[in-house]
Amino acid sequence: MPRFTVHDFLKKKKESKKITMLTAYDYPFAQIVDEAGIDVILVGDSLGMVVQGHENTLPVTMDEMIYHAKMVVRAAKNAMVIGDMPFMSYQSSVEDAIKNAGRFLKEAGTAAIKLEGGSEVADHIKAMTKSDIPVMAHIGLTPQSIHRMGGYKVQGKTQEAARKLIEEAHIVEDAGAFSVLLEAIPMDLAKKITEELSIPTIGIGAGTYCDGQVLVLHDLLGLFERFVPKFVKKYANLKEEALKAIKTYKEEIEQGSFPSEEQSFK
Ligand code: KIV
Repeated sequence: MPRFTVHDFLKKKKESKKITMLTAYDYPFAQIVDEAGIDVILVGDSLGMVVQGHENTLPVTMDEMIYHAKMVVRAAKNAMVIGDMPFMSYQSSVEDAIKNAGRFLKEAGTAAIKLEGGSEVADHIKAMTKSDIPVMAHIGLTPQSIHRMGGYKVQGKTQEAARKLIEEAHIVEDAGAFSVLLEAIPMDLAKKITEELSIPTIGIGAGTYCDGQVLVLHDLLGLFERFVPKFVKKYANLKEEALKAIKTYKEEIEQGSFPSEEQSFK
């Protein structure tokens, strides 16, 4: 199977085929996601919450993102890998944005980057695209804006907010983004944006009409319990499985049944 590329994003939209995307942050899980045939792996800054145990995504640094992106790129044989720009790696200036986005492609080997925001990052998107750094935009609920938004809330609910989001979607498309991620917005609004744009939309909490879907891996696998949004579907409960295995291991050591002869040398 050839590697998924930015061109396949457009091709799938034209052919009305859904784009599949999932996050991963390390080698073993990225290998599983890749083997499952997922089109795109996002090394999301959500790792701040689901891997590092922070309250939100704001503490994640560029160096940490590069560290995780390298592991994922090593594992992904067919999936396209996208690096997520962490808080304050691009907001400060267009120059910082290009430098840090470039690090993802140059040091980690990702094929593209994602950044949060609409009109306020249009110049950043233009400059990156001009420098041959493919950009996925991210509008709607943008977790790096948690303090301005006052929490993780559904966006675009009023007529005015919806109109603004449609405008923002067009702005990021015109700036050169190859795709736009829509987070936590009403499904009819996502449908309208998806129909109006020529670039594909990827939804998370944006309903069924998007051109593709993404979830945070640890939510899907039941490995993160602290905050489970309504849009998450838990496809497995790996925490329960892991707990069972580790408890059995502990019991077997205490009872003297592990290691047995089978795990011992003569
Ligand atoms: O960081 C992340 O995992 C994201 C999600 C919206 C997929 O941006």
